[in-house]
Amino acid sequence: MVIGVPKEIKNNENRVGLTPAGVAELRKHNHTVYVQATAGQGSGFQDAEYEEAGAVILPTIADVYNQAEMIVKVKEPIREEYSLIKEGQLLFTYFHFASSEDLTHAMIERKATCLAYETVERADRSLPLLIPMSEVAGRMAPQEGAKYLEKPLKGRGILLGGVPGVKPAHVLVLGGGIVGTQAAKVAAGLGAQVTVMDINLNRLRELDDIMPKNVVTQYSNEYNIREAIKTADLVVGAVLIPGAKAPHLITRDMLKTMRPGTVLVDVAVDQGGCIETCKPTTHEDPTFIIDDVVHYCVANMPGAVPYTSTLALTNATLPYVVKLANLGWQEACRKNDDLRLGLNVVNGEVVYKGVAEAWNLPLVSVESVMEAAHA
Ligand SMILES: NC(=O)c1ccc[n+]([C@@H]2O[C@H](COP(=O)([O-])OP(=O)(O)OC[C@H]3O[C@@H](n4cnc5c(N)ncnc54)[C@H](O)[C@@H]3O)[C@@H](O)[C@H]2O)c1
Repeated sequence: MVIGVPKEIKNNENRVGLTPAGVAELRKHNHTVYVQATAGQGSGFQDAEYEEAGAVILPTIADVYNQAEMIVKVKEPIREEYSLIKEGQLLFTYFHFASSEDLTHAMIERKATCLAYETVERADRSLPLLIPMSEVAGRMAPQEGAKYLEKPLKGRGILLGGVPGVKPAHVLVLGGGIVGTQAAKVAAGLGAQVTVMDINLNRLRELDDIMPKNVVTQYSNEYNIREAIKTADLVVGAVLIPGAKAPHLITRDMLKTMRPGTVLVDVAVDQGGCIETCKPTTHEDPTFIIDDVVHYCVANMPGAVPYTSTLALTNATLPYVVKLANLGWQEACRKNDDLRLGLNVVNGEVVYKGVAEAWNLPLVSVESVMEAAHA
C-alpha cells in the first residue's frame, strides 16, 4: 500500500502521524511511505532519519495527498486540506466529528473513508488510541501544577515535595482513571501528600493497593471535596463520564474557601471541565486567576511535549497502521473489531451512530458499505 504522512498544519500542532521507526516497520512489509518534508521536525525527527528508514520525502502536502492510498496523521484535516482528499482515500487520524459539522460534511463531500482514532475500541470498552494522550496529560498535570505554584507565576510559593522539616504540598486528584492515576503517581513521586477521589470503589481499591504510602484514597462526594479543597495546594481535575459533560465538582462559590495561590489544573476541560470556573486556555496563555486561585485549563496538554506524545501515540497506532496496510481497510476491519469501531465515514457515508445523531445525517450500516466496497 502507498502510505502518506503529511505535516500537521493545525495551529501549534507539532506531533506527526508516523516516526522513522514506523516507516521502517512498514518498509519491512514492502509498503511505500511518502513523508512530507519537515513533517517530523516539531517532534524532533529529521527528514534524513525518515529517508534512512526507507521513506521518500515529498516537498508539499498536495504531493502527499495526491500519491497516498492511506493518510496517517494526528489531527483532523483542516479546511485547507479538504480539497486535497481524494475519493475513497483512507484517513487514519483523530477526527472528533461530533464537535465539527463542517468537517463531517467535508468528509462526506470528498467521499473519504475516515477511521477515527478516538472511536477505535477494545472488547473491554477501553479506547487504546486515547489512553496514551491521557497518560501524557496525567503525568504533565503535577509538573504544570508545580510550576504555577511558584510565587513568580502567582502560586502559593510552595514546593510540592517540601524539604526536611517542612511539610510537602497537598495534591487533590479528582478522578482516579488514566489521567488521575498518572497524576497521583507523579505528584507522589515528587514527594507531595496526595488524595485521590473517585466514585468507583473498585477503582479506589485498586489504587489503594498499588499506590505508595503518600497517596490516600477517598470517596468522591461534595462533602469530602469541600473539606479537601480547604487544605489542597494543587487540585487536578481528571473525571470523565463517558459521552457526557464533566460534572462541576468545584463550583464558583467553593473558590472562596481555598487558600490564595492554590492551583487548579482541570485536565477534563476538553469535556467542559469539572471545575465550574474553568474555560479552555492555550499553551501561549495557559492560566487565569479568579478569587486568587490560579486556573490552568489547556485543552491539548500533550501538544507541549510533542516528542513524548508522538512516540506514545504512534506506539499505539502503528500496529493498526500495519494491519490496514497489509490487509486493506475492508479486510482489516472484518478481522478486527477494534478497528471496525473506528470507522466513522466510508466512501462519504456516515457509519457511526454518534456522528449521524450529532448532525442529523442518515446512518448506513458498516456491513452494507463493506459489502459494497467488496463487490
Ligand atoms: N486536557 C488535555 O489535554 C487532555 C488530555 C487527555 C485527556 N483529557 C481528559 O481528561 C479526562 C479524564 O480522562 P481519563 O482518560 O482519565 O478518563 P477515565 O475514564 O480513565 O477516568 C475518569 C475517572 O473519573 C471518575 N469519575 C466519574 N465521576 C466522578 C466524580 N463525580 N468524582 C470523582 N471521580 C469521578 C470515573 O470513575 C473514572 O475513574 C477526560 O475528560 C479526557 O478527555 C484531557
